[in-house]
Amino acid sequence: MQKKRDAWKSRLGIIMAVSGSAVGLGNFLRFPVQAAQNGGGAFMIPYFISLLLLGVPLMWIEWTVGRFGGGFGHGTAPGIFHNMWRKNRFIKYFGVIGIFGPLVIFIYYNYIASWTLAYAVFSAVGKYGQVTDQNTMLSLLKGFQGIEKNQFFSNIQSAYIFFLITFAVNIIIIYKGISGGIERLCKIAIPTLFVFGIIIAVRVLTLGAPEAARPDWNIINGLGFLWNPDFAALKSAKVWLAAAGQIFFTLSVGMGVILTYASYLKKTDDVALSGLTAASTNEFAEIIIGSSIVIPAAYVFFGPHQIQQIAADGAFNLGFVTMPLIFQRIALSAFFGCMWFTLLFLAGITSSVSMAQPSIAFLEDEFNISKKKAVIIFSVISFILCQPAIFFLKHGVVNELDFWGGTFCLVLFATVETILFGWIFGIGKAWEEIHHGADMKIPRIYKFIIKYITPLFLFCILGFWFYQEGIPVIMMKGVSQADKPYVLGIRLMLLAMILTLAIMVRVAWRKRLGNKK
Ligand code: ALA
Repeated sequence: MQKKRDAWKSRLGIIMAVSGSAVGLGNFLRFPVQAAQNGGGAFMIPYFISLLLLGVPLMWIEWTVGRFGGGFGHGTAPGIFHNMWRKNRFIKYFGVIGIFGPLVIFIYYNYIASWTLAYAVFSAVGKYGQVTDQNTMLSLLKGFQGIEKNQFFSNIQSAYIFFLITFAVNIIIIYKGISGGIERLCKIAIPTLFVFGIIIAVRVLTLGAPEAARPDWNIINGLGFLWNPDFAALKSAKVWLAAAGQIFFTLSVGMGVILTYASYLKKTDDVALSGLTAASTNEFAEIIIGSSIVIPAAYVFFGPHQIQQIAADGAFNLGFVTMPLIFQRIALSAFFGCMWFTLLFLAGITSSVSMAQPSIAFLEDEFNISKKKAVIIFSVISFILCQPAIFFLKHGVVNELDFWGGTFCLVLFATVETILFGWIFGIGKAWEEIHHGADMKIPRIYKFIIKYITPLFLFCILGFWFYQEGIPVIMMKGVSQADKPYVLGIRLMLLAMILTLAIMVRVAWRKRLGNKK
């Protein structure tokens, strides 16, 4: 008999949960940096095309496939893929990517989310109140991260305490379960962060007249930097890759988490309209709120040239260095600073819990153990795995984890699931499955897009991206001699993780076969 699985309490609940997974640090920190690095207006055309041809179809695929798998008592890709292609003995092993990817993201994302909590506190107590220039603000961040000792911090202790708090919050929410933990959190956190986001965006958009000496540094030009289209950039593969990568990351598609969330739906629950609603909620947060804060504000205070320079320094500078400096220059700085970092923390935590859920569901569903046991096992293992990201941050460990877990695996996993859905499962059956219990009719063109365009697009991305970025990364190009042992160590850790998961799949299937006999 199939074990009774957790379930969502309401339709609004799962939409909020999937939106919670999608709306994250990616919307408010990664998006502006990607847009600025790739030329602002040049980025937005490939971005929208990727949204329509990759993001939205993948959202529908993952909701549908997840609900389908849940019907067989499977909440993660190994079991779901196995049921979609029963004749193939190996497909379940490809499903391992859908547990591995989110686990890898969890072990660094959680740490970054903990910085936002720390900075919310720092804003409230005025920790950076006297800092007025970028270099000093960067020093504060580096001191906090334990990268250097300075007048602000002499060790990593405070960062570690905030990490412990954030980690504990994650575990408590996961332990409380799908409806009691994740659904409840997201129903409060998502509306709250939208209100905070809108307040901050309005404040930024009403920053007023620029300094007389620099009349061009105004809000309208700041918005134009992002929204004036630049068609010439359509020829650049790099911009296409960045845009497609951002779509994956921001919508949380290709990870395996939406699959797991959707597995707790009932067979008759709608996936078509709900999937589209979650994608739209995320895009509202990204395009309307996300794009109205960091870029226009940084433009007004630092001008068009510095904005690209700051973005080139990395995804976090804009959020942790530039934004506090900007808030210092407006009234009620502590209030706005605190609000900004609380928004980021809420966005971060609603995403990080979703990264944990596939591992928990895998243990519960495939090994028939209780939630309590699954959460304990997950806590111990993921806690250990988080440590390198904390202690070896300066050796590029987070970038390495992000490359494999947050980029490579997403494209690979999306390719596998799209082919499975459109070709193996069959687009006819797939189309019927999406529309089962659906509250909207998906435009027929998407039948064609899902079968031909999305996989073709994915193959092109995979090929181009592997050629342009994959090979240099695999060969550790650009990694300093001192950092190489750390990067290698992380790769071995990742290899051990994926092998362990594959062995666990084998054991679980053998056991099930044994039970049947
Ligand atoms: N989708 C999540 C984000 O945007 C991971 O941060």
